[in-house]
Amino acid sequence: MNDYLVASYPNRGVTFVEGKGAYLIEKSGRKYLDFASNYGVSIFGYQYPSITRALKKQLSKIVNIHGSFGSDARDEAAKLLVSHCNGKLQRVFFSSSGSEAMEAALKFAKLASGKTHFVAMEEGYHGKTLGGLSATGSLKYRQQFEPLLWSFAHVPFGDKDALVKSVNKDTAAVILEPVQGEGGINLAPKGYLQFVQKLCNEKGILLIVDEIQTGIGRTGTFLAGEQFGLKPDILCLGKGLAGGIPIGATLVTEEIAQTIPLHVHTSTFGGNPLACAGILAVLKEFEDGKVLKHVREMGDYFLAKLKTLKHPKISEVRGIGLMLAIELSQNATPVLKALQNAKIIAIPAGSNIVRFLPPYIISKKEIDLVIAVFKKVLSFEF
Ligand SMILES: Cc1ncc(COP(=O)(O)O)c(C=O)c1O
Repeated sequence: MNDYLVASYPNRGVTFVEGKGAYLIEKSGRKYLDFASNYGVSIFGYQYPSITRALKKQLSKIVNIHGSFGSDARDEAAKLLVSHCNGKLQRVFFSSSGSEAMEAALKFAKLASGKTHFVAMEEGYHGKTLGGLSATGSLKYRQQFEPLLWSFAHVPFGDKDALVKSVNKDTAAVILEPVQGEGGINLAPKGYLQFVQKLCNEKGILLIVDEIQTGIGRTGTFLAGEQFGLKPDILCLGKGLAGGIPIGATLVTEEIAQTIPLHVHTSTFGGNPLACAGILAVLKEFEDGKVLKHVREMGDYFLAKLKTLKHPKISEVRGIGLMLAIELSQNATPVLKALQNAKIIAIPAGSNIVRFLPPYIISKKEIDLVIAVFKKVLSFEF
C-alpha cells in the first residue's frame, strides 16, 4: 500500500484497476466477484451502461455549479427523489457523503425542535464525523473522541421499554437504521419500528431514519422503512444513490424545511450536476419495478441457500433483500481472507460477521458460486 496515505483503513492486500459488471479486476487481469459493492455503493455493479452514459454526458457539460445558482440536473434529481420517498418528505438537502447527510439531519432537527437531546440505538452506525459519531452506538469508534456532541442516549435496538424511558420533554429526535448494517445486519423484533413511529407521533418527537445503507432498493423496497410502516420526518440517504459519485441526501418535511434559515447549512459540492445526473440515471432504473423484484428474488434465494450451510462455525444467518450476514462463532477475518483468496469479495460487520451487499445485477449462478466457495472455506482450519 501507499506510504503517503494515512493508514486508517485495514489493508485487504489487493489493488483493483477496473470494474465490469459484478466483477473487480486486478492489473494482472484476475477477476474477483464483488459481493460487497464498496460497502453498498456500486448497486448496479461497474460500467452499467445507462449510468455510465449519463455521467459521461454530464461530464462533458458541467461538473460543478454551486447551490446558489440554478441547475436543471439538481432540480430534476430533487423532484424525482422526493417522488420515490414517502410523500411526507418534500425537500432535499444534497451533500457528498452519508456522514454529511447525518450532520444535516441533526442540525435540521435542532433547528426544527430547538432541542439537543437525541435517542439513538446501540449498535447503530451513522458515520464518523462528530455529529454522526455522536449518534453512532459503538464504543470502539466513539471512545477516543469523547466528549462528543450535545446529549445522546443509546438504547438497545428493539427494546421498547428502554426507548420509552429514554425519551423526555427535551428529546429532539429518535434516530435509527431500519436494519442495522455496520452493527451486524440486525433486524428489529416484529412490531418494534411501528412502535417507534407511534411513540414519536404521540410525543411530538422527530424521527430521523438513516437509510444510507438500507435505502435505494437494498432490502427489496426503495426504502426499507416502507416494509415497517416508517414515515420519518427526516431521512438520510447516500451510498449508491448517485451511481457511484459521492453523495449524501437529507430529506425533510415542508414544515422542517421552513425552519432552516439561509446560509447556516450549505456545502460546496452539495447537489453538483454530476452527482445529480447519477441520481437521475439510478432512479430511472427503479421506474418499472423490475430491479426491486430482482433484489427480492435474489435476496430470498441467497438467504435460503445461506440457511442450508449448517456448520458449527455458523451461529446465525440473517438479512433482508440483498443485505445479508453470516454470524460466525469466531473472528470473521480469516474467513474473509479465504473468500478473497477464492476471488470473492465480502466485508465484515463487527468482528465475527461476514456481510454480503452484492450489486443488484447478480444472478443465481453467482450466488451458487459464493455458496459453493463458502462451503469449502468452512472446511478449512482457522
Ligand atoms: C447506516 C449508515 N449511516 C451512515 C454511514 C456513513 O456514510 P459515509 O461513510 O458515506 O460517510 C454509513 C456508512 O457505512 C452507514 O452505513
